[in-house]
Order: sequence, then C-alpha cells, then structure tokens
Amino acid sequence: MTDLVDLRSDTVTRPDAGMRQAMAAADVGDDVYGEDPTINALEERVAAMFGHAAALLVPSGTMGNQIALRLVCPAADELICDADAHIVTYEGGGAAQHGAIQTRTIVVGRGLLTAELVEPQLRVEGYHAVPTRAVAVEQTHNRGGGAVYPLATLKDLRALTSSYRAALHCDGARIWNAHVAAQVPLTEYGALFETLSVCLSKGLGAPVGSLVVMSDEAMVAEARAIRRRLGGGMRQAGILAAAGRYALDHNLARLADDHARARRLADGLVDLRPGLVDPGTVETNIVPLDLTVTSLDSATLAAQCRADGVLVSAVGPRRVRLVTHLDVDDAGVERALKVLRSALAAQ
Ligand SMILES: Cc1ncc(COP(=O)(O)O)c(C=O)c1O
Repeated sequence: MTDLVDLRSDTVTRPDAGMRQAMAAADVGDDVYGEDPTINALEERVAAMFGHAAALLVPSGTMGNQIALRLVCPAADELICDADAHIVTYEGGGAAQHGAIQTRTIVVGRGLLTAELVEPQLRVEGYHAVPTRAVAVEQTHNRGGGAVYPLATLKDLRALTSSYRAALHCDGARIWNAHVAAQVPLTEYGALFETLSVCLSKGLGAPVGSLVVMSDEAMVAEARAIRRRLGGGMRQAGILAAAGRYALDHNLARLADDHARARRLADGLVDLRPGLVDPGTVETNIVPLDLTVTSLDSATLAAQCRADGVLVSAVGPRRVRLVTHLDVDDAGVERALKVLRSALAAQ
C-alpha cells in the first residue's frame, strides 16, 4: 500500500521513526490517578499555548467536542452551530445522545458563521423558549473546505455571545492549520473561547489524541468525570502524549507545506472545467471538488482514482475532498494530479 497517494484525510498519517522512538521512551503512569507525567506535561503545555487554565487529554476529537459541549451547555438547552459542522454531521448524534443537547443549525457558505447570522437566532431565557447556552464554530472548517474563520469574525461572535451570556466553543481539530495559514497566535484564538477541542491526530500526525482546553480550573473535575463516564479514562497513555509532544515539536510549522501542496492541487485542476475547484478558497490543506460541473459522481471518480493508486474522499454525491498531509510529498501531488486530470478530462 505504500505507493498509494492517500488524499482522503489528514488522519491517515503513520508515526515516523522519530515519533515512535519518542513514544517508546515516554515516562508513564496511571492517568486515571493523574499520575502520568508525560500526559500532565502535555496538558499543561497545550493549555498554556492557548492561554487557558487547563487541558485534558482525550482519545478523540469527537470525545473532546462531546465533553466540551457538556461543560458549556446543560441538558435540554440549546447549542447553535452551522449545518455542516462536524458536531452535527459526523459525531453520531453524540451531543443529543450523551449530552441531551438540542442543536439548532444555520446553513451558511463554507461553514463560517457570523454575528449577523447568529444574533437573530439566539433564544434568551424567560420567553418559554429553549435558551441558547452556547455557539460552536469549527476552525478550520472541514466540510467548508478547510476555510479559516477570520479573526475579526470570531471577535464579533465572542462579543455577541458574551452579551447574551452564551458560551463560545471551538471545534479546533485543525486550529493549528488556521494558526499557520493566518499567522494568528494561538493565544489570540484561545482568548475567544470558553472551551476548545484540539486534535493531535490530524495535520500534526500523532496516531491518537485530542485535548479539551478549558478557561476555568473548575471545569477540569467535571471534564474528567464526563470523560470517565464516556469510557475515555486511559491508563499509561503517556505513550500517546509523547507522540503528541513530538508532533507539536516537529510538525506544526510544516503545515505550511501541506497548504502549499493543496494550492498546487487546486491550481493543477482549475483549467479543466469552470466551477470544479476554486483555488482562491483553498486556504489550508483541504481541496473541495464540485463534480456537478462534470458528468461524474463522487463514487465513480473515487473508484477510478483508486484503480490508479490515488485515494480521494467522496463527501457528498457530487462532492469530493482532497486533503494534503505529512505523508503526501510533492511527487505524490504530481502523481495525483495526473490521475485526477485524466479521470476528469474524460468527462
Ligand atoms: C473538524 C473536526 N472535528 C472533530 C473531528 C473528530 O476527530 P476524531 O476523528 O478524532 O474523533 C474531526 C475528524 O476528522 C474533524 O474533522
């Protein structure tokens, strides 16, 4: 399988030799007792990176979101997010099932909410309405093609949610990509949110692990309790935290390479058909292809590419996603372009 060019997701990366060595050498303890020194150090480091009080290591970004949402939105109250958010698209209805949270969604281009769109939707307590307790944004936006929320938009959302005493949560699975692409310090992002969920296992290339980043020490005990109930308490997971530490040390700045390769993919396809891809919207490591301008559907294109050793994701009936990451180099991009161009040019 090594000669496949896998553009399905940035989650498909495999730990390199250096990361595996770091994992093997990790000092560990029982994290359910709070005694894993490598985890404790990673949690402190990530909390500090975002200027927050605390962070908690969890097995997945999904669990990170689910815990954070429960910290900011009581059962039977409301969370507003965009209609394409990971939270309501790919988390198996977890907010509803585990948190009994009512979600209300806003359909918006590239997944990016604005204060103007959200304000009329807020429901305040006292009018027999389900109160809006929290708003969630996704930075960068997965189904929005890796779109980066402008800092000014986030600041407006922060001002709005504060004025209505609602919390602002960030699904920051790829906030690292936003930080590198927009050159906004992580502390500036951190200052805007009560909670963030950030992933080590996307562009950073660690095999497992996300962190719930929290503004308030009092949230930590509650977050640990929810994690326990969800079965996310791990024991000598310092082995995983060591991979995360290695990823932060070695793989953060290099996300710029993934972004350049995503732009190369978009630029290399743009002449095929108007509307297929808009290089102007490729800000990070995700390239969406709109197949409605071709006679192909996503499954057919994905199967044709697979036959030629290139894997792409069908994320809608006529929508395909290409994602660059650590394990795709320049040669892989050129090979993918050749395969995609030949499949698409025939249509
Ligand atoms: C935006 C976003 N949030 C959360 C997640 C969930 O991460 P995990 O797969 O670790 O549960 C993903 C996964 O791809 C994602 O893209």
